[in-house]
Amino acid sequence: MSKSESADRIQAMIEERFTRVAVSPTTERTFPVGRESAIRLGYDADEIDGLPPQAAESFAGVGNPLVLGELRPGEVVLDLGSGAGLDCLLAARRVSPTGRVIGVDMTGAMVQKAWANALVSGISNAEFHLGEAGHLPIGDATVDVVISNGVLNLCRDKLGVLAEVFRVLRPGGRLQMADILLRDDVTPEEVAYKGEWSD
Ligand SMILES: C[S@@+](CC[C@H](N)C(=O)[O-])C[C@H]1O[C@@H](n2cnc3c(N)ncnc32)[C@H](O)[C@@H]1O
Repeated sequence: MSKSESADRIQAMIEERFTRVAVSPTTERTFPVGRESAIRLGYDADEIDGLPPQAAESFAGVGNPLVLGELRPGEVVLDLGSGAGLDCLLAARRVSPTGRVIGVDMTGAMVQKAWANALVSGISNAEFHLGEAGHLPIGDATVDVVISNGVLNLCRDKLGVLAEVFRVLRPGGRLQMADILLRDDVTPEEVAYKGEWSD
């Protein structure tokens, strides 16, 4: 199999996996999903419980990008790989109705679920778009803050994704990203055991 065929196969597996996390989150066994995981990662339980339960059930983040900096009323926030939209909904409340939150995700079922979650939460300043992190459907220098949670490790062209982030950020804009890293002391055997998705 060529390198690009292998990359396409991994991309298809990622989409399939996150479609399942969107549609039937309780069946996910490989990584933590949902409200309890969010609370373990430091999210405020009262803030989460202030949203309808379905808003958190497909949460699949690896940290909390919202604690990395303050979002201000009126700001435009982009969530790269927004999943079912939990971070977007929390961000939408922080930027107030004068601000706007845009979620972009490559998995259609996640985008659909994020729209539904915004609707049941009564949040109207968040919008969700199907899109690839490496080709964002967003204009140059239009975003104040990019947030992202557990997505860059899944992207094959990481430098290309970061170039897109810096294209859409306004001068002085901020990037608040939570992700997983491969440490130097991890052996090739451990990497093989974990699978080929992340590098
Ligand atoms: C681990 S989940 C995290 C979702 C969300 N950020 C959260 O915290 O719940 C990763 C998400 O990134 C999306 N994703 C993965 N690779 C992507 C890419 N290249 N472009 C856009 N979205 C991507 C997946 O569809 C999935 O919804």
